[in-house]
Amino acid sequence: MTSSDTTPSDHPPAATEPVVSVITPTFNERDNVPLLIADLNRALGDIPHEIIVADDDSPDGTWEVAEELARTDPNVRVMRRFHDHGLSAAVLDGMSVARGQYLAVIDADLQHDPSILPDMVARLRDDGADVAVGSRSVEGGGYGDWSASRRFVSWVATFIARVILRVHVTDPMSGYFMVSRATYERDAGRINPRGFKILLEFIGRDRSLDVVEVPFEFRNRIHGETKLNRSIIRSYLLAVAELRLGRQVDPAFLLYVLVGVVGLAVNSVVFAIAEAAGVPQFTTGLNEAIDPIYGSFVLSVAVSILVVFALNNEFTFWEQRYTGWKLAPAFVVFVGMSIIGTLVHVGVFTYLQNIGLLLSVLGDSGARTLHNLIGALIALIVNWYLNTTYLWRRRLS
Ligand code: GDD
Ligand code: MN
Repeated sequence: MTSSDTTPSDHPPAATEPVVSVITPTFNERDNVPLLIADLNRALGDIPHEIIVADDDSPDGTWEVAEELARTDPNVRVMRRFHDHGLSAAVLDGMSVARGQYLAVIDADLQHDPSILPDMVARLRDDGADVAVGSRSVEGGGYGDWSASRRFVSWVATFIARVILRVHVTDPMSGYFMVSRATYERDAGRINPRGFKILLEFIGRDRSLDVVEVPFEFRNRIHGETKLNRSIIRSYLLAVAELRLGRQVDPAFLLYVLVGVVGLAVNSVVFAIAEAAGVPQFTTGLNEAIDPIYGSFVLSVAVSILVVFALNNEFTFWEQRYTGWKLAPAFVVFVGMSIIGTLVHVGVFTYLQNIGLLLSVLGDSGARTLHNLIGALIALIVNWYLNTTYLWRRRLS
């Protein structure tokens, strides 16, 4: 953080050094901030603390409301951020100016119950834990009235964290947690500020951490609205991929491959259904090599191209997605690229067949399978290149 990112706080520093620093990232939370600060002060009572409001220059003037409160409450500090907009970046910025021995992160919208903060401090200070997670999934916690679909997403996310990252917490998506200063100072430098799952960045990168969970009941938002949309699932998968594989492989490429696999599955299913339904074959009369054309083949290719386009647009390249009428030309370009990809696939396959690569080792059908696979892989990479260069052009971050 540079000093220009913050507005200087014009109040005197708090009399005692804070033991706990509570960082609350905010974006358009003006109605919630006064309630949150009152709640935090009540919950922390006589534990010396500071409250750092890390606001991304909210259009609703959240920072102004917070600065007003800071004038009379020496525990409150306000960061009005103009750069690097984003939840994780705001949290990390807040942490970097925090002075407490224990650094907590809490949502500003009152969905996180501040009354468990003293418990979290106790687990870190007295039990020597490194991280305390406010958990909705352990005994005594709860999700409030979350829809079945949100619970399902949360369940899948937890499952992925366990299997892929080997992180054994019941609520890895929680935005409510506390870390010790030692943990922060050791691990913060490695954290990707573009991710949004700050907790996962800590516990997913450093397996040696002693992580405990403290239950709380997730409450409903009363004022303002949620900023996390359906791209949250995508961001989560990207974060997990990056944590697991490092930055050698572009995690978006993995999403792209994932979508490709789904496309293959859709293709096979549609083909099987169309065959069973007796979709007829037809002749074009143009060229003997392409006649007759199987109706089920055309249908399955058409459906899978459509599905792959839609998934890439809505999922893989969410940040660059097309909407409204622009979808039509984008789809045409996508189909064009798919045709190029197919030509590459066929071209590589034919070439490898002609030179008979590994034919003597693998035999006729084994070599054919290998040649087809190599063709498909090269086509996949060519398509990725074309798509990311001309269709869903990505800004480098
Ligand atoms: N500074 C800043 N910048 N703050 C932000 C931004 C941003 O770009 N986006 C969101 N926030 C703040 C909000 O103002 C709020 O205080 C907090 O981050 C959480 O945002 P919400 O928009 O309320 O998130 P949610 O309630 O949908 O999601 C919660 O549940 C998720 C699923 O378990 C959060 O706790 C997530 O962290 C959690 O993953
Ligand atoms: Mn919320």
